[in-house]
Amino acid sequence: MPAYSEKVMDHFMNPRNVGEIEDADGIGEEGNPVCGDLMTFYIKVNDNRLSDVKFKTFGCGAAIAVSSIVSEMAIGKTLEEARKITPAVVAKELGGLPKNKNHCSNLGAQALNRAIDNYLEKQGIKVKTRRRREDEDE
Ligand code: FES
Repeated sequence: MPAYSEKVMDHFMNPRNVGEIEDADGIGEEGNPVCGDLMTFYIKVNDNRLSDVKFKTFGCGAAIAVSSIVSEMAIGKTLEEARKITPAVVAKELGGLPKNKNHCSNLGAQALNRAIDNYLEKQGIKVKTRRRREDEDE
C-alpha cells in the first residue's frame, strides 16, 4: 500500500466541502478514463472571488483528499489566484503523493479550472485554457 501523509489521510477520512451547489455559477467535471475516477466541482463567485466551492468525487482515497484540499484552498481566492492551484501545488500542500497517485492531483486542479472556465463562459468570456486542453485531448 502506498504511503500517504497524515494530511492526505485526514482529508480522505474527513473530506471538507463535499456536496453540490444547486445554483452554482460554474460547474467543472474531470475524469480519468484509465482509473475511471470522476470529479465534479461546483463554484459560487462573488465579486471575482470564489465564495463557495463544493465537490462530488467518485474515486480513490487520494482523489477524495485532493478534492477536499483543492476546495479548501480555493474558497476565498480570486479567480486568478485559484488558477494558480496547480497539481504540483496541490500535491505539495498534501505533503506529497505516491508517484502512481500523481494523476489524482491533476484531476482536482483541472476540475476546479473547468468550473472557472464554465463560469467565465457563462459571462460570455472566451476561455483559451479550456480550448487548449481540449486540443491536447484529441
Ligand atoms: Fe485515479 Fe486516483 S486512482 S484519481
